[in-house]
Amino acid sequence: MIELKNITKRFIDGQRQLTVLDDLSLHVDEGEFVAIIGESGVGKTTLLNILGTLLPADEGSYMMRGEQIEVSGEQPSERLCHLRNKEIGFVYQDHRLLPQFTVWQNILLPTLATKKTSTEEEQLHAQALLKFMGILPLKDSPVTQLSGGEKTRVAICRALINQPAILLADEPTGQLDVANAQTIATLFRKVNAEFHTTIIMATHSAEMAKVAHKIYLLKDGKLSPALNSQP
Ligand SMILES: Nc1ncnc2c1ncn2[C@@H]1O[C@H](COP(=O)(O)OP(=O)(O)OP(=O)(O)O)[C@@H](O)[C@H]1O
Ligand SMILES: [Mg+2]
Repeated sequence: MIELKNITKRFIDGQRQLTVLDDLSLHVDEGEFVAIIGESGVGKTTLLNILGTLLPADEGSYMMRGEQIEVSGEQPSERLCHLRNKEIGFVYQDHRLLPQFTVWQNILLPTLATKKTSTEEEQLHAQALLKFMGILPLKDSPVTQLSGGEKTRVAICRALINQPAILLADEPTGQLDVANAQTIATLFRKVNAEFHTTIIMATHSAEMAKVAHKIYLLKDGKLSPALNSQP
């Protein structure tokens, strides 16, 4: 599903050049659930942004389902827009829900990339996702009135509305208490099992990482298998 080879990513910080990802490679099979752990600032978000085609790598190659992914700093190609909208669902570290809209409107937003209204099928799917995530009663609530855990669930629904093959989640439980984090962890596992969505999730939490099939540690710009991955 995903093959990153020899990815290097540098940032210029004033006079200093910071190599965040250094000759990093990653192979993820279809249907796999992978957790990326690592200390704050090691490059988890940078890696997810590259996987989400939101950021170009400086060196290396990115293949998705055998297709070479080319990301430049310029206007994204039509193909790249399609990939981002249909094939990849993204749960951001800070949710990025639109505060002026309701839960329902936020979830259906990605269906409006190329048309003015969502189809009946998309609305049925949104309804099913709300139910799946246990937040159907919040359908018409403004997102500003939700708790952190509820916002995370809405963000997951929005990421899944176009039935993407890949779900990328950046610290989905970063701001949640243990009980809420465990609920979200269980939901990710359920999404992976029931929709066969390939999931790559960055997290600080060892507890959260335990629900994944494989755990990689990001350190010094490279990934290595972490202990205690579950089959
Ligand atoms: N646009 C940028 N310009 C310059 N430096 C950046 C930029 N984005 C990230 N960095 C730096 O790259 C490093 C990795 O950042 P990144 O956000 O990927 O870390 P992270 O592992 O996600 O951290 P956290 O766990 O706190 O979310 C940090 O040192 C950060 O300051
Ligand atoms: Mg981060």
